[in-house]
Amino acid sequence: MTREKPKNLWLSRWGFILAATGSAVGLGNIWKFPYITGEYGGGAFVLMYLACILSIGIPVMMTEIALGRRGRGSPIDAIARVVKENNGNPLWKTVGIMAMLCGFLILCFYVVVAGWAFAYTWKMLDGSLTANSVEALGEVFAAHNANPWQLGGWSVLVSLLTMWIVAKGVQKGIESAVRWMMPGLALMLLVLVGYAFTSGSFAAGFDFLFTFDASKITGEALLAALGHAFFTLSLASGAILVYGSYIPDGQSIARTTFIVAICDTCVALLAGLAIFPVIFANGLSPSSGPGLIFMSLPLAFQQMPFGTAFGALFFAMVSIAALTSAISLAEATVAYLNEKYGISRFKGAVAAGVVLLLLSLLAMLSFNLMAGWTPLGKNLFDWMDYLTSRWMMPLGGIFMVLLAGYALRGDIMRDELSLPPLGYALWLFMVRYVCPVLIMMVFLHALGWLGFDPIAKWYWIAGVIGLLAILGELLRPRVVPALAGR
Ligand code: TRP
Repeated sequence: MTREKPKNLWLSRWGFILAATGSAVGLGNIWKFPYITGEYGGGAFVLMYLACILSIGIPVMMTEIALGRRGRGSPIDAIARVVKENNGNPLWKTVGIMAMLCGFLILCFYVVVAGWAFAYTWKMLDGSLTANSVEALGEVFAAHNANPWQLGGWSVLVSLLTMWIVAKGVQKGIESAVRWMMPGLALMLLVLVGYAFTSGSFAAGFDFLFTFDASKITGEALLAALGHAFFTLSLASGAILVYGSYIPDGQSIARTTFIVAICDTCVALLAGLAIFPVIFANGLSPSSGPGLIFMSLPLAFQQMPFGTAFGALFFAMVSIAALTSAISLAEATVAYLNEKYGISRFKGAVAAGVVLLLLSLLAMLSFNLMAGWTPLGKNLFDWMDYLTSRWMMPLGGIFMVLLAGYALRGDIMRDELSLPPLGYALWLFMVRYVCPVLIMMVFLHALGWLGFDPIAKWYWIAGVIGLLAILGELLRPRVVPALAGR
């Protein structure tokens, strides 16, 4: 069977690396990583996180890129094509459908969060963040969210920017945007780390991040690290897969993946080094949870020389990081509309943009007018987050590795990854045994396993049985010949 010709390709060798790093580096690195490191106790957590990036993050990312490049298309089309090339069961297409829906649903609440960063850049400059306690800044944050026009205005702005860049195409839109945004982000980050260095508490911040305390290694922290490794690399949401489909043949997937994972990790660590010294210099708590960057940090910046300028720089950096992630989330859907229905990228971006505006409106209204509407105990914003990060991402990830590890004919992934024999054997081992089990553990744990979450209690038992049944069916005719081929 002849392979699909790519419609779009990255212009330069760095195209994919910059765009995928842009996708991976986001609120997860700058907002979430520092505060969960704070919660789980510093250096020990950082170490576990690095282990998880190596053991799950890198193999899964390689798998996603390889599937994308082999199938050359949006997540749905690429996976469908790869499965067809193997005469596999068409049900595997569901993996692509789920990945794309997952990405789009993440986008719908991600634009609201990205809107916070944009708004805070502005607020830093116009003097709205001069309250002099964390509590008072908490009230500023609450007031921002309570005003639907304000909150909605910023998220609409992010949505429009995202769709505008995606509409312009892979090379002229995405690649040319990330080509200046990513170096800009790196530069801002270095300036901020330099600033933290002068704060007088750099050593305290450094120790906090890198001092290793073995007693902090717990199952709980390990699972958090695993979940975060998955999230921070943007896995199982279609973004990396569709970006992978634009990589020219011949570029090494393994090397590229390592570069992206290393850049992503460096940004997370540097963000920690930019944030914690500033927090400590002002006697604030490192473990103040999700409010860390929106409440504690503005207070810290206020008390420091040139704090307003550096604070604005910080939030501008977060805004860019969030925007490049949003772009990757939108790309899968626009590529799909373009490929499946033959409509131009521009029209696809408009269509996806309209749906995005409607759904993100629901996410946004969860903070104010619809705050009281909490079907089954969660508002709509929390539902979108819950469904994607607790269900769709882990399940999508598991099925993706099972597809690549068991169901595909032996030579396809080998061909695509073109690793030396030992590297390939290692990848295969990870993808077959380590990743599915570890992701399954995170999945079950996050649903409240070991102290069940009431919603999950019944569903997961039925779910596991159902999964086993489906798997048995999908794998039965394949496992033996597939194994023979290796
Ligand atoms: N990796 C992003 C971050 O760290 C978040 C994210 C998760 C994401 N899945 C994604 C971004 C898919 C883009 C695409 O903030």
